[in-house]
Amino acid sequence: MTSSSIPSHVPAHLVRDFDFADMRGGTDVYAHFASLHDEPDVFYTPCHGGHWVATRYADMEAILTDNIAFSSHHQTVPPMPITLTLIEWDGALHADARKVLSPFFSPKSVSNLEQVARDLTISLIDGFHSRGECDFVKEFALKMPIIIVMSLMGLPDEDTPYLMQISEDIVRSTDPEVQAAAFQRVFDYIAHNVMPKRRATPGNDIFSAILDARIDGGRPFTDEEIISFGAVLIAAGLDTVASTLGFLTKFLAENPDHRRALVDDPGLINDALEEMMRRFHIANIARVVAHDMEYKGLTFKAGDRILIPTSAAGIDPHRYEDPFTVDFARGDKKTLQFGRGPHQCIGSFLARTELRVFLQEWLKRIPEFSIKPSAVPIAVPGKANCLRYLPIVWPV
Ligand code: HEM
Repeated sequence: MTSSSIPSHVPAHLVRDFDFADMRGGTDVYAHFASLHDEPDVFYTPCHGGHWVATRYADMEAILTDNIAFSSHHQTVPPMPITLTLIEWDGALHADARKVLSPFFSPKSVSNLEQVARDLTISLIDGFHSRGECDFVKEFALKMPIIIVMSLMGLPDEDTPYLMQISEDIVRSTDPEVQAAAFQRVFDYIAHNVMPKRRATPGNDIFSAILDARIDGGRPFTDEEIISFGAVLIAAGLDTVASTLGFLTKFLAENPDHRRALVDDPGLINDALEEMMRRFHIANIARVVAHDMEYKGLTFKAGDRILIPTSAAGIDPHRYEDPFTVDFARGDKKTLQFGRGPHQCIGSFLARTELRVFLQEWLKRIPEFSIKPSAVPIAVPGKANCLRYLPIVWPV
């Protein structure tokens, strides 16, 4: 850490050497984020080019809600090389783009996908059930959400293996070059396989709606914006659900009492899902200060970046009583798992549907399971925390 990398408006006593994506030898993702609760409400780190870090639920909620002072123009730390459509847009332009998407994510539209998710869950489980073991990440968590996203976007079944490979590179690779190459393949796929077909034969699907839409006072989306839009949808619906599936399953594998409570009374599943998602928030997003301002006595300069590690929000002791305990009867269900404010996750109903259906069907078929003896699951922090390896076993 060199002082030259610290801007002059940052007080020296608020500088910490914290890299959200690097546990530096640690293995517990949530212990890594819990360490933030011993720090000030907001501090500055020189990592990833230098950025502020909000450490409390209350500040994260306030910053996400105020999308005028805190722009989404760079929504990740470090920033992406291009500005992503919708998720990195602000103000009226963002509202225009969101309006195009909204009808496809309504509970009514999503209800059509529930049966797809159920059939898929059952057939994936049938594929490995008799073996008595699987790598949950590779054999389930990475497969289910990509097929649902493809269904949502009306993409053809025969493209599944191709997109599955790309999705694995996006979600599982730790190599930024592999990830960037995977995104490029998604861009190429949308540009060459999807857009020409939808232009030639428009339907009632998301892409046709995007091609037909007018934004920004009457112009269509540019080709670049459309391609980026498609990539946002694929990426946003993929690693988030895959990661959440992983953390939930790891928790249930390690906590037989919680698991048996759900097996005995599946009526608890909705509450249990909310509580487990609180305990395991996965998104670590960012905002950019739009103009010079004071925040809680600090000077924020236009262009300063702020990390919003929601992984720390769900276990913030200033917000939740006994935050590390998973209590299915916890009354307080408000969380930041799906963000807050104008960019709040548009896919939350779909995500909840996928996760609920997974729990219902999995627990019916595999009520007893645990981590494979002597195997070590691998969990890593990142823009979305994720499980890279989750070997589980069950009696057959
Ligand atoms: C458990 C699963 C999920 C989690 C934890 C999650 C989390 C989030 C969060 C935190 C945001 C806010 C980002 C920000 O404020 O910068 C967001 C936005 C978004 N999510 Fe999700 N998400 C999930 C599933 C999905 C699914 C299944 C889809 C659909 C395919 C989806 C599509 C989107 C989109 C398009 C946005 C951008 C909304 C906007 O900018 O207006 N998400 N998600």
